[in-house]
Amino acid sequence: MKTSVRPRGPEIKTELPGPRSRELIAVSQQYEPQAASEQVPIVWKHAEGVWVTDMDDNTFLDYTSGVLVANAGHSHPRLVRAMQEQAEHAVNTYDFLNEWRPQLAQRLVEITPPNLSRAIVLTTGAETIETAIKIARLYTGKHEIVAFHGAFHGRTFGAMSVNGKRSSPGIRGFGPFLPGVVFAPFPYPYRSILCRGHEDECSERSFEYFKWIVETESEKDIAAVLVETYQGAAGSIIAPKPWLQMMAQWCKENGALLIIDEVQASFGRTGKLFGFQHYDIEPNLLCLGKGISSTVPVSAVLGEEDIMKTLTPGSVSSTHGGNSFSSRVALENINVILDENLSDNAARIGAVLDERFRAMQRKYDIIGDVRGLGLVFGLELVKDRETREPDPAATHAIIDEAYQRGLVMIAPIGFYGNVIRIAPPLVITEEEALLGADILEEAIAAVVG
Ligand SMILES: Cc1ncc(COP(=O)(O)O)c(C=O)c1O
Repeated sequence: MKTSVRPRGPEIKTELPGPRSRELIAVSQQYEPQAASEQVPIVWKHAEGVWVTDMDDNTFLDYTSGVLVANAGHSHPRLVRAMQEQAEHAVNTYDFLNEWRPQLAQRLVEITPPNLSRAIVLTTGAETIETAIKIARLYTGKHEIVAFHGAFHGRTFGAMSVNGKRSSPGIRGFGPFLPGVVFAPFPYPYRSILCRGHEDECSERSFEYFKWIVETESEKDIAAVLVETYQGAAGSIIAPKPWLQMMAQWCKENGALLIIDEVQASFGRTGKLFGFQHYDIEPNLLCLGKGISSTVPVSAVLGEEDIMKTLTPGSVSSTHGGNSFSSRVALENINVILDENLSDNAARIGAVLDERFRAMQRKYDIIGDVRGLGLVFGLELVKDRETREPDPAATHAIIDEAYQRGLVMIAPIGFYGNVIRIAPPLVITEEEALLGADILEEAIAAVVG
């Protein structure tokens, strides 16, 4: 049953997980392989706005947005209505044109920089990466892709080939991958050996090292540089503005396309509609997903006219891509995000949370670094402020303590599994955001004693 009144706070009525949740967890353990990431054992039944109710009627505050999907909040009434109405009409139309796909493409072109004049509507984020790599190779006639340490672009083979964190279980044992990928360091002031002690020069040092890698490790056949504005999986590491501007300039000067992967960083998440708008740069190809619909699987690749013109019929499409159901919902979602000024809300509440997390950092030595942009944060936890030795065990324990108190967070991220990711739906109020921070602080206090 839907609840229509916003709860004032989390409500935990059973031991966690509760009995009905435990039953379903047992079914999952019997019939599913352990292939998905391990999250706290909440079995979602109902979600509305920033509140999630589990199978046992326990209510949690959501600091996850699913995984940065529900930017407009869970079950937004306008999106529910769009889904209900469209379900009564056509749902899947394959590559046949339908009422909504061209309108979604038009809207995407309207809200992005004028150089991006065409949009392909697809299904998943990884699919946009595969597609962008294909297009970059076709258009430039070159084969190499520059990707970055720590990058995450998805779990299909092309996407895995450009993922960093190459020692992680998501990568090991699955290779070999696509040849022609050249890896360079992403500026990570807190940990990179290029930057530590030289934080002010992190952009220049990382860029110089990138140029050296291109000079010495590439075949000088670079089709594209593929980059995220902030690296989510590596621990919410935000690209410094000078560095990304230098990379964009380098692409222009060297005939390489700039592909920006904003599957995660777009649709208001960072306090602007698109993450790259913080950098005064324009991508040649732009990958979008997640928050594009706040709900059902939709993604898109936008590109410049000349580049997109190289595509031929049948070269890019998929069974579910651009179906009328998901296209309609994505279009409505974009209008919700714009009508409700959710980017501005993300910037405003993000600033409040940033202050709160920095106050927590002053109080708890375990918080080594606080990184945030709009409503996405990474709190990097360490055993020792000086050595910066990662503390993955405490990170895990804090997320678990928070769950027991009614706050849902995604499993630890980062190179060492020692970063807490905070990314609530962008409709969150200041009161709700601070309530989450209070719970998080209680959880930290419980773990560090
Ligand atoms: C930056 C980025 N790119 C691509 C992807 C892959 O998206 P999907 O899981 O929809 O394939 C993700 C998913 O987390 C992402 O964060």
